[in-house]
Amino acid sequence: MRIDVLTIFPEYLAPLSQSLLGKATARGLVSIGVHDLRQWTDDVHRTVDDSPYGGGPGMVMRAEPWGRALESVRLPGARLVVPTPAGRPFTQQVAARWATEPALVFACGRYEGIDQRVADWAAEAGPVEEVSIGDYVLAGGESAVLVMVEAVTRLLPGVVGNAESVEFDSHADGLLEGPSYTRPASWRGHDVPPVLLSGDHAGIARWRREQSLRRTAQRRPDLVAQLDSASLTAAEQLV
Ligand code: ADE
Repeated sequence: MRIDVLTIFPEYLAPLSQSLLGKATARGLVSIGVHDLRQWTDDVHRTVDDSPYGGGPGMVMRAEPWGRALESVRLPGARLVVPTPAGRPFTQQVAARWATEPALVFACGRYEGIDQRVADWAAEAGPVEEVSIGDYVLAGGESAVLVMVEAVTRLLPGVVGNAESVEFDSHADGLLEGPSYTRPASWRGHDVPPVLLSGDHAGIARWRREQSLRRTAQRRPDLVAQLDSASLTAAEQLV
């Protein structure tokens, strides 16, 4: 997969070349380009923003540098992702869908966002999604891009060593993952749930499922309400 990030703070994206992603890049599973938007400005001050039409606080990123940057960086048909608190929610389902695509381009906005015509114009050349990583406001899209690139790339075949660990993730089946334990079996008066030491694989699977349902009901009742009946057994639908 090819990933390009456009930003006025390229250093902010340094973590993309480290740890899991750095290894995935070295192994040729993903290739990442980070580009300074200012290289597509056309004035001595390398201006990327201006005051909003209609008035109001803050500054808006100008369309011209963005237009030239996208013409230069975006492969034909590549999905353009614009992180914004005003976007549709970024979820595990969205990450899984993007993980099947050959290329993604992320456009990091700062200030009060990017002139809306950039996304509107870019939609003429390929898919564009404006997405939010949560109901809070960040100073810019850069940290949201770090989050989204990590969520997407760990789903690429070969990036995470154990394919099962991705399959059983929280959210993979619409539920939160239950608790995990490792040795010792007893620690400072707290014991590992005995079923996990029983060797009864069916019993362990049943217990994990119960824990997952209970935790989701307690912490994320909104997720339980969204579950389709196909993902719950007949017995679970009665509880
Ligand atoms: N930019 C600022 N806040 C954001 C958020 N919550 N999600 C994505 N991009 C953002």
